[in-house]
Amino acid sequence: MSAMLRIQSPQSMQELGLAWRGQGLRVGLVPTMGYWHEGHLSLMRWARERCDMLVASIFVNPTQFGPGEDLENYPSDIERDSLLAEKCGVNALFTPQRDSMYLPGHGTWVTVPELTKNLCGRSRPEHFKGVATVVCKLFNLVQPTFAAFGEKDWQQLAVIRKMTRELDMPVRVEGRPIVREADGLAMSSRNVYLTPGERADAPHIQKGLCLLEGMIRAGERDCAVLRLAVQEYYAVHIPSGNLDYLELVDPDTIETVERASSDILAAVALRLGKARLIDNKRITIEK
Ligand code: PAF
Repeated sequence: MSAMLRIQSPQSMQELGLAWRGQGLRVGLVPTMGYWHEGHLSLMRWARERCDMLVASIFVNPTQFGPGEDLENYPSDIERDSLLAEKCGVNALFTPQRDSMYLPGHGTWVTVPELTKNLCGRSRPEHFKGVATVVCKLFNLVQPTFAAFGEKDWQQLAVIRKMTRELDMPVRVEGRPIVREADGLAMSSRNVYLTPGERADAPHIQKGLCLLEGMIRAGERDCAVLRLAVQEYYAVHIPSGNLDYLELVDPDTIETVERASSDILAAVALRLGKARLIDNKRITIEK
């Protein structure tokens, strides 16, 4: 196999993507913000088996960060990521610079308002506008046949699916399961912000969602009751945590539901020290 290409220029990336697609090759894309963990690597391994040419991108996209968020401190180790990319069989690692992705005066945005009023869209009002716009740009630059995203960012995945469908983008969007640490904490580049004490409490985020699932399976349908039980669980087990939201929503529309139906998503965002951690659980039950 030929050596992995490292590409910084958006124009060079687009020329390569167009050339590959012109040759009839299947191009897979794993878009990331870097500082990879096993979740990212599992996306790359999965994509590697399904494409001829695999592109991974690393771009800490400034437009999806709000004021006071961790844009300037976002963890980064591009040389380590680059070695991991080679091991995963990435053909091209695309690492554009901020000023080449957003030229002065940039003023074109993609928004998906229906899906972004709730959950992370409520607490991070500009976030999904930045995500949808950069993913649209990455699709135009890389020309992928498909792109793979983790289901930890469920709302992001829903937004990207809707954008791709409604703007007729010729890209298949693939969602892949959350990858967890052995104790259940969802992997995230932001876990590095946790102190040892916070890290010890963090697995309770998922445990709270499992408690909620257990209650649904035992017959509880009232979402207010379900939410209260998990809020109380978090207050006891993650005392230094600050709950941003705990919601039960329709997995497709991201609308809040009052009674658990046969298919719902329980989603949580919790601030723990310097980290804002998200997790979710899809719960399907026989009718
Ligand atoms: O999930 C992420 O890492 C980012 O939101 C993405 C999709 C790479 C866009 O910047």
